[in-house]
Amino acid sequence: MTAGTHNDTSPGMGKEELAGRIEQLKKEMRAIVLAHYYTVPEVQDVADIVGDSLALARAAESTDAEVIVFAGVYFMGETASILNPDKLVLMPDDRAGCPLADSCPTDDFRAFKAEHPGAVVISYINSTAEVKAESDVICTSSNAERIVRQIPEDKEIIFGPDRNLGNYVMKKLGREMIIWQGYCYVHEAFDWETIKKTVEEHPGAELIAHPECREELLRHADFVGSTSGLLKYAEERPGTTFIVATEPGILYEMRKRSPEKTFIPAPKDASSPWSTCTQMKQNTLEKLWKCMENRAPRIVVEEPLRKAALRSIQRMLEMS
Ligand code: 13P
Ligand code: SF4
Repeated sequence: MTAGTHNDTSPGMGKEELAGRIEQLKKEMRAIVLAHYYTVPEVQDVADIVGDSLALARAAESTDAEVIVFAGVYFMGETASILNPDKLVLMPDDRAGCPLADSCPTDDFRAFKAEHPGAVVISYINSTAEVKAESDVICTSSNAERIVRQIPEDKEIIFGPDRNLGNYVMKKLGREMIIWQGYCYVHEAFDWETIKKTVEEHPGAELIAHPECREELLRHADFVGSTSGLLKYAEERPGTTFIVATEPGILYEMRKRSPEKTFIPAPKDASSPWSTCTQMKQNTLEKLWKCMENRAPRIVVEEPLRKAALRSIQRMLEMS
């Protein structure tokens, strides 16, 4: 990571003025702004592409922009930088990490691998560059099943770091995998006992859930899908009411695509209405503007780590 000269002054601009300045800087810098669906609406509004992890990795791979501004969490900016060593990759806040990725330290992961020599290592994209470098292929929640299906039956598979996605794929495909026991705190927070009440209060509503949720909830879901899978399902289904068990940032796009439908964020527990990703919300419009203005924080992955991590990311892009 390299830091430039920071402009920390805040002229107290409103959202519209910030959005206007960001548009101007995009043109001047030949920049593209990528944002995950979990970021705040005003950040999604200024993005050139809003997507899930796979769509954003693809966009980062194929863009001809000179500058990539990534509103997401650290592993996303890092992946964009791994794919584009010659481009300037900026993030509004390079301290916005993903606790799931951080729950898999490289040395522990190496030791885990050493217990299963010969196993094919599949890592979720929510992982550090070091863990990606230790992996044979990367996956996202959109392509995990497709990737696992392509591994020869006689091969053992190590899957990490998300245990819920790993268990979901394992059960769906009937394929044993050795699973690292990490989880996403946002999705892990959902439990069936709490959500059941909301389901009972809305007869006819469909419960849709992200595979990072626990099995005890997924078992009751009418549909399980990645961020893009949930969006597509909600848009295409004839049903009009959906209880959505994932990060509620996705509701902004769901409501845009189907304004006539009702989307209810699944409750987390009695004390908290829903479960948000604090790290994704660190990407404010002001920080987005500042990072472009300052050309920092910049995300740089040192060679040869970049090269080692690139192999497994490229394999994913080829296999999906
Ligand atoms: P997807 O974007 O692949 O659905 O993953 C969700 C997530 O938790 C991103 O951090
Ligand atoms: Fe990480 Fe979960 Fe936040 Fe996604 S939602 S960035 S997996 S903590």
